Amino acid sequence: TSIEQAPLSADIAIIGGSGLYQMDALINKRHITIDTPFGSPSDDIVLGELAGVTVAFLTRHGQGHRLTPSEVPYRANIYALKTLGVRYIVSVSAVGSLRESLQPLDMVIPDQMIDMTKQRVSTFFGAGAVAHISMADPLCPALAELLTRAYDNADVVEGTSHSKATYVCIEGPQFSTRAESQWYRQMQADIIGMTNMPEAKLAREASIAYATLALVTDFDCWHPTEETVSADYAIKNLMKNADNAQKVIKEAVALIAAESPNSVAHDALAQALVTSVDMMD
Ligand code: ADE
Repeated sequence: TSIEQAPLSADIAIIGGSGLYQMDALINKRHITIDTPFGSPSDDIVLGELAGVTVAFLTRHGQGHRLTPSEVPYRANIYALKTLGVRYIVSVSAVGSLRESLQPLDMVIPDQMIDMTKQRVSTFFGAGAVAHISMADPLCPALAELLTRAYDNADVVEGTSHSKATYVCIEGPQFSTRAESQWYRQMQADIIGMTNMPEAKLAREASIAYATLALVTDFDCWHPTEETVSADYAIKNLMKNADNAQKVIKEAVALIAAESPNSVAHDALAQALVTSVDMMD
């Protein structure tokens, strides 16, 4: 046809977690199937326009939520987004709260992470290519700060936002034991989830700025009086959260497009300790 197609690229990607399987406000959508050396991503990537900006949307668990946190093809997902030219990833993720002050329906924009996953490949390196990348600030500070402003610009009626929190990532799919939940609190973790590691590490290796908008669904199982987390309980809050998150994302996309914030991630490889580059070109 003579219809001009925009190029298959995007500066900004949204990875949607549990509850956020699509972005209702995306227009002019195109579904793109991308294959990578690490297999297929969780699903087709949807390119569309949000707030007048082209964005890439990927549902982390796939349509119909087919993939457990351990099964998510993290490397394929990040690789596929990189091939589209993505420089910013906003990760939207359901989490449990490990603090009294972080309530269900609140949103948390963490600045630190603890990786307690056990069975996931968490690097693109190996097979001759060796690089050690800094993860001292695992989430892009500039993008995180921008997400906080996006929350303030959005008209979110329930809950509040919190920044500077620590996200602990567990393997799952089971929720934690009560002893583990107490232990994570002692470690100074504030929120708990199952997916943002190794996603954040891989994004850093790919020199993509990555920040998380965490949606609190429950109090895990440490709390003396609040209901212990169950799938039913978490899902009840997920749907409300997903509506609120979409408002924040729209504001965030507008701010990123306007400001193109510099990220420590954008030159992560230049700063890395690279001892062998046999396999890189
Ligand atoms: N995702 C949502 N709630 C969670 C919890 N309590 N533990 C781990 N991941 C979660």
